[in-house]
Amino acid sequence: MMSYKIAVTLHLLASVIWVGGMFFAHMALRPAAQTLLEPPQRLPLLKGVLDRFFLWVWAAIITILVSGYWIFFDVMSAKAAIYVHVMQLIGLVMIALFSYLWFVPYRNMGRALASNDLPAAGAAMAVIRRVIGINLVLGVIELVLGAARPF
Ligand code: HEM
Repeated sequence: MMSYKIAVTLHLLASVIWVGGMFFAHMALRPAAQTLLEPPQRLPLLKGVLDRFFLWVWAAIITILVSGYWIFFDVMSAKAAIYVHVMQLIGLVMIALFSYLWFVPYRNMGRALASNDLPAAGAAMAVIRRVIGINLVLGVIELVLGAARPF
């Protein structure tokens, strides 16, 4: 079935872009920026990174939802193994956390930087980092669920 393969491929590509991007940002980019740059350089850099990455995350979310529910309802006729239900639940939590990030701390960070309020921008960034850390763990669990298909 060709279209099932297309849906799974899109689902996998989108989840790798989202989770891999969080891994890079959380484990490599931010710690290096923290060590090497002072807040006046670091915070605008991180904001510029998030401006670009977050648009890809929205695209990934739309792709994951459309492909995931397409497979679930059309291919599986809503009769899926438990791991798919767990994946769906964790996925919806990840999307809720990302929406919170986008609408609250990320927006606050933009406002703070626009008015040169570095402490407020730093506080918003601290929230963003914690939430991305949670979503990174959830995302890795999702990849393991998808790859291992347990229970
Ligand atoms: C939120 C709603 C989601 C739904 C309804 C959903 C649904 C599904 C379904 C039906 C499959 C196919 C399972 C099979 O063929 O046995 C699947 C596979 C997979 N999903 Fe999801 N998913 C969702 C979210 C996510 C998220 C957020 C991620 C990762 C960030 C993810 C990662 C994967 C992976 C890695 C696979 C395995 C693909 C493969 O077979 O190679 N899913 N998902």
